[in-house]
Amino acid sequence: MTKKFYITTPLYYVNAAPHIGHSYTTIAADTLARFMRLNLGKENVFFLTGTDEHGQKIQKAADAKGMLPQDFADETVPHFKELWKSLNISYDYFIRTTDKAHIEFVQRVLQMVFDKGDIYEDKYEGLYCTPCEAFWTKLQASDNLCPDCKRPLELIQETNYFFRLSKYQDWLIEHIKNNPEFIKPEIRRNEVLSFLTLNKLDNLCISRPKERLSWGIPLPFSPGHVTYVWFDALINYISAVGKFDENGRYESKWWPAELHLMAKDILRQHTVYWPIMLKALDIELPKTIFAHGWWMINDAKMSKSRGNAVNPLEMVAKYGIDAYRYFLLRDVPFGMDGNFSEESIIKRYNSDLANDLGNLVYRTLTMVEKYYQGKIPEGKSGDEKSMAIRAKINSLHNDVGACLTDDFNFSGALEKIWELINAANKHVEETKPWNLAKENKTEELKAFIRLLVDVIRAVAEQIYPFMPDTAQAIKEQFGEKEIIKGKPLFPRIEIS
Ligand code: ME8
Ligand code: MG
Repeated sequence: MTKKFYITTPLYYVNAAPHIGHSYTTIAADTLARFMRLNLGKENVFFLTGTDEHGQKIQKAADAKGMLPQDFADETVPHFKELWKSLNISYDYFIRTTDKAHIEFVQRVLQMVFDKGDIYEDKYEGLYCTPCEAFWTKLQASDNLCPDCKRPLELIQETNYFFRLSKYQDWLIEHIKNNPEFIKPEIRRNEVLSFLTLNKLDNLCISRPKERLSWGIPLPFSPGHVTYVWFDALINYISAVGKFDENGRYESKWWPAELHLMAKDILRQHTVYWPIMLKALDIELPKTIFAHGWWMINDAKMSKSRGNAVNPLEMVAKYGIDAYRYFLLRDVPFGMDGNFSEESIIKRYNSDLANDLGNLVYRTLTMVEKYYQGKIPEGKSGDEKSMAIRAKINSLHNDVGACLTDDFNFSGALEKIWELINAANKHVEETKPWNLAKENKTEELKAFIRLLVDVIRAVAEQIYPFMPDTAQAIKEQFGEKEIIKGKPLFPRIEIS
């Protein structure tokens, strides 16, 4: 295991409030950060998130509200910060691409790459749709009409700046081939590799003339241009955690990142543009880029622009923070698409949380109260079933760790925890402790109840990264020597 862990989410666009998709990546990152803090120590983990605020998308959204883009962004950012607070997100730093330090850092990068010759000036010609503010190729718009709005296109020519992606194509292919953990999951790695081996990369246009778009970071070597939003935003991952020295060498306590998390929609920017930008700067590459799947609603990707976004705050108000976090990480294997519905939240809630976990905790508290006046009994049982459960208790930490650190397999880790919960519940039903009590089998009963308490303690330990409040609530009810019975953790949801 590495001695430090630097994890990032994408910087979300501030054109609208965050939805379930954004919360998903951030909750996954939070869970890993919490897990790593337990294992490596708080001081060795850095969890970065933030917002992407420049570019045409934001300019348009601000225009639509008759606002300046900076004011508009200032108004939206609190929605993100409030949501992260409501979801118990323990980020270490929140970066905004409009932060002065980030802007200066990006300009330094631009100048360095320009001086090196990897950014050059060229004429750009394309078919342009003024109302949509989009360029199209002849192939995309053979009839000279905008494929989106069907209005006539204009052939325009502008001077722009280009980043030499193509120069580094072979190097990148080699890097991906030699580092199987660089792009995950496997399906995404194959996708990027086949894209790179089948296509010749075009150099990337990294500027926009100010007449067309003014909301961006000015190019230091051409004040008439601003920076293309992706060339600006990706740099946050290094600008947030380090500096260049006088010789242009990048210094950082945290870099390289162990993990950039995102969904598959922005895989190419992260696995093609970003590594090449770093290479041009002579900076080490991140260890892993993981692209998870999409939350869908009726087979369409949930998105701000499609207008089918579900507000996470509403879900949290209905089902609670931890049930929401649990559902997202448990219901869909990390990497796959998932269909979002409240019915499936309720199903998970009632079966896994109310029936399994909640029931185990509540019935154990009740028995400790009833048979031992709230004092946790001592005892050890040597029967086969109890020994098997003990073995599960002892290996749980490693089992969960193996799922999380090797594969970012959140659902697998939760399944491991639930195997123990279910084994304990089954043990209760088979052993029928109330019979042990009736038959005055005092030693057996003590050992039996003690085993349940130990199961619950282990479970609380392991669910902490996923469900921090629930772990805390369990710990509060199971003191060192006594229990304090509170309300049921997850009262069943009755559906009419
Ligand atoms: O792309 N399912 O920002 P963005 C799962 N600013 N995850 C989803 C999702 C869905 N339906 N919808 C969004 C940008 N996400 C750029 C990133 S990074 C330097 C710049 C999550 O606001 C997922 O993490 O469009 C996805 O990659 C990200 O939000 C896109 O957020
Ligand atoms: Mg998007």
